[in-house]
Amino acid sequence: TMNFWQLVVFISSLAPLGRAASGNLTFPPGFRWGAATAAYQVEGAWNQSEKSPSIWDKVVHEYNHLIQDRSNGDVACDSYHLWKRDIQMAKELGLDFYRFSIAWTRLVPNGFSNAISEDGKNYYNNLIDGLLAHGIQPMPTLYHWDLPQRLQDLGGWTNPLVADWFADYARVAFSLFGDRVEYWITINEPTMVCELGYGLGLVAPLIKEPEVGKYMCIKNIMLAHAKAYRVYEREFKDRFNGKLSLANHYVWYEGETDSDGIAAELTRQFQYGLYLHAVYSKEGGWPPAVEQHIAENSRREGYNSSRLPAFTQEEKALARAVNHYSSRAVRQRRARVPAAQSSPFSGNFEFNVTYEGRPEWKKGRSFWFLINPAGLRNVLTWLKTRYGDHEVIITENGYSDVPDVVNDDVRINYFREYLTQVHRAITEDGVNVTGYTAWSLMDNIEWVEGYKSTFGLYQVDFSRAERPRTPRKSARYYASVVRANSLDV
Ligand code: NOJ
Repeated sequence: TMNFWQLVVFISSLAPLGRAASGNLTFPPGFRWGAATAAYQVEGAWNQSEKSPSIWDKVVHEYNHLIQDRSNGDVACDSYHLWKRDIQMAKELGLDFYRFSIAWTRLVPNGFSNAISEDGKNYYNNLIDGLLAHGIQPMPTLYHWDLPQRLQDLGGWTNPLVADWFADYARVAFSLFGDRVEYWITINEPTMVCELGYGLGLVAPLIKEPEVGKYMCIKNIMLAHAKAYRVYEREFKDRFNGKLSLANHYVWYEGETDSDGIAAELTRQFQYGLYLHAVYSKEGGWPPAVEQHIAENSRREGYNSSRLPAFTQEEKALARAVNHYSSRAVRQRRARVPAAQSSPFSGNFEFNVTYEGRPEWKKGRSFWFLINPAGLRNVLTWLKTRYGDHEVIITENGYSDVPDVVNDDVRINYFREYLTQVHRAITEDGVNVTGYTAWSLMDNIEWVEGYKSTFGLYQVDFSRAERPRTPRKSARYYASVVRANSLDV
């Protein structure tokens, strides 16, 4: 294969001239285009054959008002039955890869790896083979938030053994599908799992433990990733030669004044470093600034040891993955944000800051959404500066709107502007971005907002049993970008 790094250097040295002369926004040859979904958000068939309930099945059934429109993912897009149509859409868009997730509860319903579901196995085999038959690479995510409820009953992501349970489940997936998969994503957005699931208690499993439980979750999730990585490295790498990474969520944080700028950097250490340092730094473990900060807070609060559990592991990954949607302005405050209100979108209780918008950033449909395309470029260059020159795949980026908009020019604009920034990160900053993924292939159930906030290139009509899918204007736009490998379309 081609030496990709040389290619990027070559383009970057020519870029300023080429752009000035022609406005050329062509991506490097071999750049890969994709679109993404996740099992709970699209599959439906929540209790089909052996499938066991996940933490999401449990919380939405127990609290039917949890999701804003009182909906659930019992049927969702019915992709369990309509996977052929999903592949057809990926084909219509001309995608190089399709990012989907494997439901742990569908493949190994009891949570442990001693029994594999035939139905589950067949479903993902059909999807993977169907994609490959059309020249589309499968990019599976092993964990997109749907932990088997049985494992939750045993402590979920706060039980240190969960890292081994996850690695065992990963081994099943690698052995069944690894011969056809080049890129694996282990865990999707650990910050959302741990901050919203175990800190704020806003999403499944609804645990409000911001001071301690949240950090136990982060530690175990990083170990789970590492153990799955080691399983692949030791048992499969020589045969399959794929790559593995976490998919992290990066909100861009910036501060206007010097001291807000320092607070913004500390925020980045909390929001990115906690999920990166163990994997990408030389020394491993937690980011020193975060470790020190939480240790001091803990001491001041009267704990005998840090609320951040000690961490001694070493791991490396070859591909790094990035999810990016939104930005925040960091402002210092005199009073601390209460722990129960702090989140990647609102503030950080470990130090006195709130996260806000800027007047020039437009809002999206989702309550947390602020549009600042330069934020994506800033994330990419920050990652390179801080953690070195790794291959980066943007595993999610997209725009949510109300469901009925079909001529979605605002979404097209969002893609155009964010992709322009990706292009600049590649050509001007030399960041090794090798792929981009639109969220989402189709409308689906949004975790907090349900079906009224939609990200789809394809619109799905949830009022009809057949769940018909219709391309939006943005689907045609994205297909033309993919075809041209360029924004000049
Ligand atoms: C993050 C998640 O990975 C995905 O499941 C979600 O729908 C989108 N971002 C939009 O919120």
